[in-house]
Amino acid sequence: MEFSTKAASPEKQRTGCLVLGVFEGGKLTDAARAVDAASGGHIARVLDHGDLEGRAGATLLLHAVPKLAAERVLLVSLGKDKDFQEAPYRGALAGAVKALRATGAKDALFCLADLPLKRHDLAWKVEQVVLAVADGLYRFDRMKSKSSGRRSPLASVTIQVADRKQANEADAAIRRATAIAEGMTLAKDLGNLPGNVCTPTFLADQAEALGKECGFKVQVLDRKQIEKLGMGAFLAVAQGSREPPRFIVMERMAGRKSERPIALVGKGITFDTGGISIKPAAEMDEMKFDMCGAASVFGTMKAISRMDLASNVVGVVPTTENMPGGNAIKPGDIVKTMSGQTVEILNTDAEGRLILCDALTYVEKYKPAAVVDIATLTGAMVIALGHVATGLFANNDGLARELVQAGETGWDRAWHLPMWDDYQEQLKSNFADFPNIGSRAGGSITAACFLSRFTKAYAWAHLDIAGTAWKSGAEKGATGRPVPLLAHFLARRAATA
Ligand code: BES
Ligand code: MN
Ligand code: ZN
Repeated sequence: MEFSTKAASPEKQRTGCLVLGVFEGGKLTDAARAVDAASGGHIARVLDHGDLEGRAGATLLLHAVPKLAAERVLLVSLGKDKDFQEAPYRGALAGAVKALRATGAKDALFCLADLPLKRHDLAWKVEQVVLAVADGLYRFDRMKSKSSGRRSPLASVTIQVADRKQANEADAAIRRATAIAEGMTLAKDLGNLPGNVCTPTFLADQAEALGKECGFKVQVLDRKQIEKLGMGAFLAVAQGSREPPRFIVMERMAGRKSERPIALVGKGITFDTGGISIKPAAEMDEMKFDMCGAASVFGTMKAISRMDLASNVVGVVPTTENMPGGNAIKPGDIVKTMSGQTVEILNTDAEGRLILCDALTYVEKYKPAAVVDIATLTGAMVIALGHVATGLFANNDGLARELVQAGETGWDRAWHLPMWDDYQEQLKSNFADFPNIGSRAGGSITAACFLSRFTKAYAWAHLDIAGTAWKSGAEKGATGRPVPLLAHFLARRAATA
């Protein structure tokens, strides 16, 4: 897909489809008004017939509009004028892309990024257009014997802006957004692949390919090397599986030599059965998405490479399956982590924290400026924040604020939750230093508390993406989150370094 900008009157444009906004009640945007005037009031007359629904994202496709060079006009409802904020704007973009996909238009001119939105600038609005197009056209059909349905011929999208200055701003936003979109697509693809294809070995191969493509260093450790490092918790999870574990390290050192890197650590459970504490059968297939944290690290490495960020970033992925079996860990087993601390495994389904804790100890060697781990860690997160916000925990309030801000900028929002010492009390064991679970109450917080015992050496944040990494139901599939949040966080750090 090609994206570009144009500072010109929409009514004069030769394009496969002009995309225009209309508020509920028929109020036209400036661009729509100009097109309406040029067409002799055609748009207003059509709207008078009442064929365009008022809800944001509803669309009406018009052909052969008089006196226009455009082949089609797509009217998109923006909802109520006074309620026009992020959600209706994004809804309108998604609706427009869905409708466009069903047409034969090869190119389109979007006249929606000039709408006034409180709290957001042109760059934000342009980025959302790019991400909506990428998301709306995304298909995962590589596992189908016949590709499903017709491919959309849409190959080029132009975003209308007011003038040259805006065009420059918008062009920069397009470059950043296409990088993020590419990263999200990679994260979605890896997430959507089934567990029998996307194994730890497969992920390691993907990392090596990505490193070649983007020009960064990749190191893959096998079981022997992982043993040597003393990662007893990670290996404990891996011992129940026939698939060998891998420990993946990606180093993109594009900043100054003296600059301490930022480390991203992604949970890479390629399938989570729960182990001996086995999960119920319903929806267990969705546990192929338990490597979406890892996928977001891959996607972010790709995005920042495309953005050419001049900074030092290390991506680390411990990856294994969590399986039951003759050799699997049992409730009550005690393991020694790389940090030297011992853990009593009371529930083998709390495996994410067991593989992450050793990776969090491993990254100490980089003396990182900050560490962010990303994990589909707890079902309790879905209960707490649903599918809207990612849960954010941190041992450093400045870092937490930066990540919340990056989530707003990328519209990939996170919500900061407490990790007070009061919650640490749940983690007590009679037999080891501490157990791997607390009680059911505040399950996402005690999981974060567990990780906090391995992150004392640096500024650290934990993103629990259990509710945001994938969608269930008819639209089942990985979302590519939180690549936008992470990419904006790293871009901001690189700009202020
Ligand atoms: N991968 C799951 C978390 C999960 C479950 C994410 C459902 C999204 C949807 C994780 O490994 C897990 O099983 N966590 C347990 C922890 C519990 C045993 C303390 C959970 O949330 O049930
Ligand atoms: Mn689990
Ligand atoms: Zn899991």
